[in-house]
Amino acid sequence: MYNSKITGVGKYLPENIVTNADLEKIMETSDEWIQERTGIKERRHIVKGDGNSTSVMGIKAARIAIARAGLEPKEIDFILFATLSPDYYFPGSGVLVQEALDIPNCPAMDIRMQCSGFVYAVATADQFIKTGMYQNILVIGSEYHSGGLDMTTRGRNISVIFGDGAGAVVMSRTTNPSEGILSSHLYSQGKYAEELSLIGPNTGRWVPEIMALNDPEDISYYPYMNGQFVFKNAVVRFAEVIQEGLEKTGWNSEQIGLLIPHQANLRIAQFVQKKFRLREDQVYNNIQRYGNTTAASIPIALTEAWEEGKVTEGSKIVLAAFGSGFTWGSVMIQW
Ligand code: ACO
Repeated sequence: MYNSKITGVGKYLPENIVTNADLEKIMETSDEWIQERTGIKERRHIVKGDGNSTSVMGIKAARIAIARAGLEPKEIDFILFATLSPDYYFPGSGVLVQEALDIPNCPAMDIRMQCSGFVYAVATADQFIKTGMYQNILVIGSEYHSGGLDMTTRGRNISVIFGDGAGAVVMSRTTNPSEGILSSHLYSQGKYAEELSLIGPNTGRWVPEIMALNDPEDISYYPYMNGQFVFKNAVVRFAEVIQEGLEKTGWNSEQIGLLIPHQANLRIAQFVQKKFRLREDQVYNNIQRYGNTTAASIPIALTEAWEEGKVTEGSKIVLAAFGSGFTWGSVMIQW
């Protein structure tokens, strides 16, 4: 019987820092409003021409994770790429990583689960390792949001929240059943698909149709978010799915070494922290510096926490996410 464990972590953030003060110059917003509602102080945005894209950032994070796992790229036998902002409508970004890392014919699969994408990808990789099919799986979460946001007052409720970046992990086989991924829990509820979505263009409404309308009110090519509804659902689902993980592993909340929630909004993370009576040092947040990077947020935070010495052998780590779909999930890790 095999288990899977994370053996290498990596992250990449574009150099360009966009502060709340920078946003104040291009839309009607304020540092106070943004910090009070979301906790965000600054985020990173790709600058056109800096050579970055969703896959390029993912590749940079992946190279670090692979090196830290003590592997060569050719030892990776499966690539999972979680993103809502792929380089192309199709094919997915995973194949671009396969080509760039020069791993001949390595299978690559994209995971389209938005903010829950990394949790879904880790759970998927875990199953492929448990069955014995693969030994070393590269899991990437990467997002290039800034190019597709409405950076005007009209889009401010969304555009101030999101940032660009990438994180990656290598998951490898272990024969020790009490280490690594102990359980994962995944859910979705398509009833609320349009509450947090980008619906146009889509296969029911191709670009020429949208263009022919020439309707200035039609902004379906920008993301839409029913913020308060998302908030209310997020706090409930985060709590449920973390509780389920605790019950499955038999851990209590005091034993959690580090909860790494998807960095949706600092207020959501604080709500969850309070609900489980966790100390400050038991929850990792970095949304203040990077904004919400969707599928990239957990691997970026995990990497940063690891680099700061907050994730060490024996730590009990909980990953949890909620997002568009709606989708949500948790992963319980004995590091
Ligand atoms: N700057 C200044 N004012 C703003 C901004 C902004 N960036 N955005 C909205 N406002 C205004 C609105 O226009 C509105 O003004 P009005 O009262 O004159 O109409 C007022 O602020 C309140 O707007 P609401 O949308 O009701 O603000 P709310 O208090 O709900 O906060 C927020 C918005 C932060 C998005 C909140 O709903 C939230 O946190 N929702 C959770 C969603 C979330 O975290 N999403 C992250 C992505 S999804 C995910 O990762 C799970």
